Order: sequence, then C-alpha cells, then structure tokens
Amino acid sequence: MKTIEIMNVKGGVGKTVTTVNMATILAEFYGKRVLVIDADPQGDTSAFFDAPKDEGNLFAMMTGLCDYYQDAIHLTDYHNVDILPSSTDLFDLDLSTVEMKNYAIGTIQSLRDAAEEDDAYDVIIVDCPPSFTASSIAALYAADSVIIPVKLDAFSVRGMEFLLAQVRELHRINGKCKVDGCLVTQWHNVEVIRQAESMLRDKGVPVFSTHIRRSDKVDESTWYCEPLAVYSKYSSAGVDYRCFVSEWIQMGGLNDGV
Ligand SMILES: Nc1ncnc2c1ncn2[C@@H]1O[C@H](COP(=O)(O)OP(=O)(O)OP(=O)(O)O)[C@@H](O)[C@H]1O
Ligand SMILES: [Mg+2]
Repeated sequence: MKTIEIMNVKGGVGKTVTTVNMATILAEFYGKRVLVIDADPQGDTSAFFDAPKDEGNLFAMMTGLCDYYQDAIHLTDYHNVDILPSSTDLFDLDLSTVEMKNYAIGTIQSLRDAAEEDDAYDVIIVDCPPSFTASSIAALYAADSVIIPVKLDAFSVRGMEFLLAQVRELHRINGKCKVDGCLVTQWHNVEVIRQAESMLRDKGVPVFSTHIRRSDKVDESTWYCEPLAVYSKYSSAGVDYRCFVSEWIQMGGLNDGV
C-alpha cells in the first residue's frame, strides 16, 4: 500500500484537482482501491465527493473522538474510492498543542498501518491545506512520497526557493518520504510559462514530463463535482491527468519503498 501526500503550501496550485482526478483515475483505469483523506479544513475534496459533514472525519480522529478508522470513512459515488473527510474544526487544531500529543500527529500513520493490516486499500492520497498545519504534518509523518503541484505564475517562480525549502522541511519531518515530483498544472503555451518550466527543471527537484494544460473544463468539472474522466474525458486536462498517472505508475509510484 502506498501513501501519497499532495502538498504545496502555496494555495490554488491544483492540489485538490490533482487529488480527485488521480484518485478516480487509479480506481477506474487501474482497478486500485483508493482512500482519499481530506486534510484541508477548507474541505474542497470532501465537498467534491459529497461526504457527510457531521459524521466521522479527520478532526474526530485526531482528537480521539473516533478511534476506529472505518467509522470515519465514507463511500463515494465512485467505485473503489472512499473518503475520510475534513472538518472546519481542523482550522482550530493548534499545531503547538497537538505536537505534545503524539496520537494526534500520528493519526494518519496509525490509520495507514491499520488499513494496511486489513488490506483495505492499495493507495491513500492525502489532499493537504496550503500551509503547514497539524493535519498536514500528520499527513507528512505517514507519507511514503509527495507530489507537489506547481502553477507557473510570476509569484510561484519568485517563490521557487520557498518550494525547495518545503522539500527540505518535509525531509526534516519524515526522512523516508520521497519527492515523486513537481507536477506543473494550469500550463499554457506562452514564452514565460515555457521559461519557468525549464527553470523549475534546472532547480534539481524532479519534475514530471507530463504537465496539466489549463482548461475551462477543470473549473466546470468542480461545479458539477465530477472528475474529468467523467465530465470531459477528452479535454486537454482530462487527457493530461491520465498521462500523468500513467507516468507516475511507470516511474514506480505504486511500488512499495519507492
Ligand atoms: N488544469 C487546470 N485548468 C484550469 N483551471 C484549473 C486547472 N487546475 C486547477 N484549476 C482551477 O484552479 C483553482 C485552484 O485549484 P485547486 O482548488 O485544485 O487548488 P488547491 O491547490 O487545492 O487550492 P487550495 O490551496 O486553496 O486548497 C480551481 O478553481 C480549479 O478549478
Ligand atoms: Mg485544495
């Protein structure tokens, strides 16, 4: 079983869109049993999958209100995709307080171990908030690898050093966690984006060959709460997400210990 964290402390870079599309592609096209964990109090992934609001969720697990992971997990409309939703209470979970309580920070790690023992899932994908919070640190402790969606606007390019600092920080927290790569999202064919992409590739962090093109179908698909494979399979971004998952699998993304 593999646990992947989709992270970037920068907001609006495509973490949630990557999470929901990667999860549904792995389930539909590769027959994988996927658990999506929404570690972001904004709850975009939970809303996308229409997860119930007031039942078991990650906050309940991190604060000891719910001990058994299966009590916090919900089925989605997509075969083989389950979700552990977030809750806005996660906003209030103070990092300094929870660091004192190992069970909180170790929540996702314990869940992963229990799910592995039960042979319940093939892949766990965690959608992280755009900041280092208690829930994103809990996700980092459990992660085998991270995928970092990156949007190549001028702010992101200026913040490239910040991105590299994030990679160093995650290695400090979990030395075994591997960076599978940066995934360029919302790509379009203009000179500045092409230059920024090659600059990123020169920085020494791995970058997936596939980039995700900018497409109006992505925004539309979020309104309809449908993954691109359902909403617009042949849109540029729909095709790119399938290529990206295929590239990730070919590079060993699903293998243990990669
Ligand atoms: N390939 C794309 N083409 C066009 N729009 C996109 C693409 N990818 C993402 N978007 C849009 O960009 C916005 C941000 O995407 P998303 O919510 O996935 O980012 P995020 O990193 O999860 O944001 P946050 O940090 O707030 O959680 C959304 O409106 C989404 O529809
Ligand atoms: Mg998000």
